[in-house]
Order: sequence, then C-alpha cells, then structure tokens
Amino acid sequence: MTVSDSRPSRAYAPGAPSAPGVVEIDHLWSMFRVAGRENIIHQDLNLHIERGELVSLVGGSGSGKTVMLRTILGLEVPARGTVNVLGRPAAQLSDAGAAGRVGMLFQHGALFSAFSVLDNIAFPLRELKQLPESLIRDAALVKLQMVGLDAIHANKMPSDLSGGMIKRVALARALIMDPPLLLLDEPTAGLDPDSADAFCALIRSLHRELGLTVVMVTHDLDTLYELSTRVAVLADKHVIVHGAPKDVIAYPHPFIHDFFLGERGQRAMELLREYPFAV
Ligand SMILES: Nc1ncnc2c1ncn2[C@@H]1O[C@H](COP(=O)(O)OP(=O)(O)O)[C@@H](O)[C@H]1O
Ligand SMILES: [Mg+2]
Repeated sequence: MTVSDSRPSRAYAPGAPSAPGVVEIDHLWSMFRVAGRENIIHQDLNLHIERGELVSLVGGSGSGKTVMLRTILGLEVPARGTVNVLGRPAAQLSDAGAAGRVGMLFQHGALFSAFSVLDNIAFPLRELKQLPESLIRDAALVKLQMVGLDAIHANKMPSDLSGGMIKRVALARALIMDPPLLLLDEPTAGLDPDSADAFCALIRSLHRELGLTVVMVTHDLDTLYELSTRVAVLADKHVIVHGAPKDVIAYPHPFIHDFFLGERGQRAMELLREYPFAV
C-alpha cells in the first residue's frame, strides 16, 4: 500500500521490479480557469501503475476522476508535473506511431448514430491507417466477437441495440488498435444488474486473456471487488492511498469510511469474503 507522501511500492511488479510503469504520474497539478478564477482539480497527485494491473479509481463526484483519465490519454495538459504513459509523455500519445496505444471507454461515450456497429468499431482504424477495406472489416469483426457479440449484429444501427450491447460495441471500438492500456470511465453505470454483471465478466476476461493494464473509474463496489488488483482513492485533490482493496479499506479517511464502510459496509465485507481475489 502507498500513501500520498511516499513513492508507490514496486513490490507488485511481477518479475520486473525495475521496469517502468505503464502509467507514471508525478506531482501532477490540474487546473481550469473558470470565470477568471483558477479551479484546482489535482494538487501534487502521484500514481504509478504497473503492467498487468487492474486499478479501480474511486472518488467523490467532481473529485477529478474523469479529468485524470483524460490526462492519461493526453487530452488534458497538466498545469504542473509529469504524466508518462507507456514510456512517453502523455501529450505525445496522439502523435503518429503512438495513436491507438491507449483505448478509452468514455463515461457518456455514445456511438455514432449514423454508423453501423461495424463502422463504429472500425472508425479509429479508418482514421489512422491506410488499410484495405477487407482487412478493416475483418479486424472489426474480430473485435465484435472479442466483446461477446455475434457477427449477426455487425450491420445493425446503434438505435437497434440494448444499453449493454452499446457498451460492448464502444469497448470493441476502444480495443480496435490493440492497445496495451485500457481506460474505463464508469463502465457499468446505467446498466441493469444482469448487464452490469456480464460486462464486468467481460472486462475480467479481457484483462486476463489480453494481458491488458486497466484503469477503471467505478462507484460500483461489486465491480470493484470482483476486478481490482489495486484500488486508488482520489480525495483532497490527490491520490490519498493506492493499494490492495483490503489495505485501502483500512486506511483512515472520511471518504473511505463512507464509501466502503458506510451504509454499504456490511455488503462490502460480505464481498471481501466472497472474492478471495480481492484479499
Ligand atoms: N473542461 C473543463 N473546464 C472547466 N472545469 C472542468 C472541465 N472539466 C472538468 N472540470 C471540473 O473539474 C472537476 C472534476 O471533474 P471530473 O473529473 O469530471 O469529476 P469526476 O470525478 O466526477 O469524474 C469538476 O469540478 C468539473 O467541473
Ligand atoms: Mg467522471
């Protein structure tokens, strides 16, 4: 477990203690100027994520979780500090050669309503690479199957899909360039419990089978306990603790108490017993 004022432990890195992290955020400050006033979102935030981890990022509404994912993706520029992703500054991720190295499932990520399922999935590939049409279609079909959807859905329009299917298609699109790092912003929010469970199982199998590193924002304790190798808590404008779920729960902080042990505390403890993976 690490706390805000100490460097993240590298003990977790399997077999490669000196390998650079997939995500290395050091002394990050993020701010927005709103109506002439600086609004500080992150203040000296540190977070290192090793290859193969699945980190759940939790924090109150407006605490800066989405801004953090967008910063990892290079869409927000740090006011101060450094953000390195896959060994290079996040700002360079959109450069030729690096584009598509990070996949993102956006919080309110809609599909293009005028495009078919297949064309939605293929979109980043068409944008970035000059490839023959047959290859693009094959690649998109592989990803469609990878997210558990049959090829029969390829020519459907987004308006024909359920909420769970839309999430799966958006995930297939995020994976089209075979990114080693996947960012998920509240992936199960808005899904009914069965679809959320199924989507959770899909994320777990993709994480394991593709060897992905995953950073996932979630409010859903079931999802968190079932999937996380590590949990990072964003509060007071920085990551207050980053570690195994059982250690994070024990960390004394009002947000952690309310989030994990408040009215949902009993359920949380049951889940901890239920998922030995989390302890
Ligand atoms: N483009 C922007 N301009 C100004 N303020 C922003 C912008 N994006 C986010 N914010 C502010 O940053 C804070 C954190 O936002 P966000 O990361 O979306 O929170 P959450 O943790 O709920 O995902 C909020 O107060 C939000 O209003
Ligand atoms: Mg958000």
